[in-house]
Amino acid sequence: MQTVVSGIRPTGKLHLGNYFGAVKSFLHMQENYNSYFFIADIHSLTTHPTPEDLHGNVKQVLAEYLAMGLDPEKCTLFVQSDVPQIPELYTYMNMNAYLGELERSASFKDKVKNQRNNVNAGLLTYPVLMAVDILIHKADFVPVGKDQEQHLEMTRDFAKRFNNMYGVQCFPEPDAYSQTGKLVKVPGLTNNGKMSKSGGEGDAIFFDDEDKVTHKKIMRAVTDSGPTEMNQTKPEAIQNLFDIMALVSEPSTLEHFDKLYNSCEIRYGDFKKQLAEDVLNFVRPIRTQIQDIKADSKYLSDVAAQGAAKAHESAEKTLKEVREIIGFRRFY
Ligand code: ADP
Ligand code: TRP
Repeated sequence: MQTVVSGIRPTGKLHLGNYFGAVKSFLHMQENYNSYFFIADIHSLTTHPTPEDLHGNVKQVLAEYLAMGLDPEKCTLFVQSDVPQIPELYTYMNMNAYLGELERSASFKDKVKNQRNNVNAGLLTYPVLMAVDILIHKADFVPVGKDQEQHLEMTRDFAKRFNNMYGVQCFPEPDAYSQTGKLVKVPGLTNNGKMSKSGGEGDAIFFDDEDKVTHKKIMRAVTDSGPTEMNQTKPEAIQNLFDIMALVSEPSTLEHFDKLYNSCEIRYGDFKKQLAEDVLNFVRPIRTQIQDIKADSKYLSDVAAQGAAKAHESAEKTLKEVREIIGFRRFY
């Protein structure tokens, strides 16, 4: 069976965009691949979170992925910092990563521009750590968005370089995983392109928000004064709401409001009320699960321990090989 690896940045609560744009593909992968999903808490140290925020975010994301259907029996779900072989391999791989190539990475240049007062060495070697996450499990595929393509390219370079340097075939060069099922870009509620937690007040629909918060956000979403011509093209803000409805509502509901729009009879108040109801029906069972899981420390600890053990086994197998290749051969 082929192996996939993907890292999840622990950034707190997840929204509808994360679900339809990322989690759904993980649910597909865990059925069909030897899959490793991990929470990239070491990566997140580049931004200096407080210990409470770091731990809280790891817990939140772990509980949310479980609530959304990641199954620790089907995949290896683990926390990056639970696997000490990762920082070990990171140390070795850093010796073969060149300053020039690291400085040229788009994400590094971006960070230098946007956080001038915190350009740390961890940011520079972020792509090495990410490559290690992938290579340590000898992944065949990595599901990545556009913003991570360059990192995957660098991963292949590091793998090739290591293999050539020692004349071995230790690391396979991983490919980008292309989703066969339907993955969508979910628009935000404030009409600023894709739904994002950094899209500003009211943009994202979070699974772990209370009903009234979500309801209010949807009722406040930007609309216009209504269609004036039969079958006119919908302006972006309206199309966005229809796109969200397409994800969470029955097809007949979508069709109903589409017809009303096309005949200029739509009332946005009714439309948004229906959308809010359908969003909440979709979100509510997952939110209940999130809360139940977060309250169950025993379950969380069992899941994390089980994931760590599985990840250890695979990582240690690679490290044994790597130490031998490099020439770390114990005298005792
Ligand atoms: P955010 O944009 O809220 O900061 P992240 O960058 O943390 O979200 O995204 C985590 C994952 O969710 C990534 O794989 C990303 O591609 C996916 N994702 C985030 N927002 C959307 C969206 N609106 N539509 C589709 N996928 C999304
Ligand atoms: N860099 C990725 C991001 O910003 C997260 C990540 C870390 C990752 N290690 C990985 C993704 C390994 C895929 C494979 O989203």
